[in-house]
Amino acid sequence: MYKNIQNILEMKGKEKITVLTGYDSTMVALCDQVDVILVGDSAGMVMLGYEDTSSVTMEDMIRFTTAAKNGRKNSLIVSDLPINSYKTENDAIRNSLKLIEAGADAVKLEGGKEVAEIIKSITEAKIPVMGHLGLLPQTAQKYTVQGKTKESAIELIEDAKIITESGVFSIVLEMVSSQVARIITEKISVPTIGIGSGKFCDGQVLVVHDMLGLFEKIKPKFAKRYLCLSDEIRNAVKSYAVEVKEEKFPSIEHEFQMDESEYTKLREHID
Ligand code: KIV
Repeated sequence: MYKNIQNILEMKGKEKITVLTGYDSTMVALCDQVDVILVGDSAGMVMLGYEDTSSVTMEDMIRFTTAAKNGRKNSLIVSDLPINSYKTENDAIRNSLKLIEAGADAVKLEGGKEVAEIIKSITEAKIPVMGHLGLLPQTAQKYTVQGKTKESAIELIEDAKIITESGVFSIVLEMVSSQVARIITEKISVPTIGIGSGKFCDGQVLVVHDMLGLFEKIKPKFAKRYLCLSDEIRNAVKSYAVEVKEEKFPSIEHEFQMDESEYTKLREHID
């Protein structure tokens, strides 16, 4: 049985929560030891080759969610509601239901007090919601650290309290100064999941392509690389291409043979 919302809530203050993004069944099956797989709209960049998340559609997120569900055994699946899919309460509920039908256990959306009513209506429809504060990639003009001044910090803390009251079961804090992430984590009852927000959050999330060293376009400071898969892949592809050109691949162990007597009969027929 895979993790549920209650399991995640109970981890606050006891055990750090591990989250990785995942968009396809093969990768999700490999990463399924983390607590949560986030089908993020970062798929727009790492899977679809867009510059940002602004062109990601509901159809894209449904397809990625289905693929993630097909690979998971243990992790909770949270899927992003893409930009423009939660403008009204009706849109938000209808589109959240589509992601749940595709295999998500919960949905995530970006914003503070301005989306409080939307969050409330989704949770009233019995769909768990993860919030997302700090840097909001769907609308950000620039990727800068959030909560660096007293005023902006107070606003972030207020937003965190408001969306917690609206019913989120956890909140992603993206590129929030470590001190503010710590205060939010201490002040709210649900777990915070940090990305570039320091060690005091209740859990951490990374984009799987960043942490495996697969995505080379952007290298955020916070995205620690645990592997450099892009080099390994390039080397493997080079070896494959050389072996094919030099007729070293395929060799006998990669072939299928016809029965010798059948082959003799075939040759006689052809010749
Ligand atoms: O889309 C995404 O992958 C995200 C994470 C960066 C938190 O929202």
